[in-house]
Amino acid sequence: MIISSANDYRKAAKRKVPPFMFHYADGGSYNELTLEKNVTDLSNIALRQRVLKDMSELDTEIELFGEKLSLPAILAPVGALGMYARRGEVQAAKAADNKGIPFTLSTVSICAIEEVAPQINRPMWFQLYVLKDRGFMKNALERAKAAGCTTLVFTVDMPTPGARYRDMHSGMSGPLKEIRRVIQGATHPFWAWDVGIKGKPHTLGNVSHYMGKQVGLDDYIGWLGENFDPSISWKDLEWIREFWDGPMVIKGILDPEDAKDAVRFGADGIVVSNHGGRQLDGVLSSAKALPPIADAVKGDIKILADSGVRNGLDIVRMIALGADACMLGRSFVYALGANGQAGVENMLDIFKKEMKVAMTLTSNKSVADITPEALVGYTQKP
Ligand code: FNR
Repeated sequence: MIISSANDYRKAAKRKVPPFMFHYADGGSYNELTLEKNVTDLSNIALRQRVLKDMSELDTEIELFGEKLSLPAILAPVGALGMYARRGEVQAAKAADNKGIPFTLSTVSICAIEEVAPQINRPMWFQLYVLKDRGFMKNALERAKAAGCTTLVFTVDMPTPGARYRDMHSGMSGPLKEIRRVIQGATHPFWAWDVGIKGKPHTLGNVSHYMGKQVGLDDYIGWLGENFDPSISWKDLEWIREFWDGPMVIKGILDPEDAKDAVRFGADGIVVSNHGGRQLDGVLSSAKALPPIADAVKGDIKILADSGVRNGLDIVRMIALGADACMLGRSFVYALGANGQAGVENMLDIFKKEMKVAMTLTSNKSVADITPEALVGYTQKP
């Protein structure tokens, strides 16, 4: 199959990974309205074509939290990523490293912090969920620090999990017995070999490390379900600050008032995100939420944005709407599922080329040049 875009990787992943894993990535919560709007609201924004401005020199690099990034993108945290390819987190992290962007390891990864971090040259980013078990959180932060992680991504939009109906149908969520049956019965031979499900159990690295025993995906779904903490407040972030002195990014902001609170708290960054339409269905798409947030806090805090980015043109759109950089979610998960590290590397090359074309034809020589003027119907605030 010819691969020319992230959409092609989606099709390729659909063929290769077992249905319950494909739908776990591809689906969203409830009626998946926000999931759809993330993509359509963003791609419906018209780029403003400008011509004849000598665009022979282009630069997609940015600096973020003291790091150089070859393009304004970071691989987003994705739970159970190691189920999409053998030692999947390591493969994705190496791809990001080779292409000059950070990789974020999810709390609920298959490969533990200690396995992934030493295999890449640049510092890894680490994502933390708020869990009732504060001992787990403290332990994870200490291990992340010891492994040389720099930036902490603290996800705050999951005080309680949204229901994902597709996962219920596929057997990925629901009664433990059913989950176990689906995982163990995943018969795609290539995938089973690739992920190491035959012989090697698919344990959750960070949770197993903490528990001192192998914790499988099925056990973890039960543990996680009981462990989300709806009592989370800004006080908990102060507690985390005691354990983390590096940059702290709050992920899951959709409202300008919360963005201002993040600035008051002293966070280094926010991620404008609705968790890729996987939490509260019916909330604003990131493309719609971002402009008022940028009006409120741009320049006071680094603004990252995700949810709906499917190509390099979308990165330019998000930057023009006010983001300093984007996080990439499903697009790289599909590429990893379809072709491992090489898939993710190729996808990042594709995104960079697409971004360069969009920068050329909107006449923006650097990322810093990209403003709302790159879009039709948006103007820069005086
Ligand atoms: C996620 N996301 C996520 N976020 C997070 O903070 N911790 C996590 O463990 C996960 N796990 C996860 C699994 C899968 C399969 C997906 C698709 C997503 C959300 C992710 O970081 C990001 O916010 C969205 O994926 C961005 O939206 P797009 O790019 O997928 O549309």
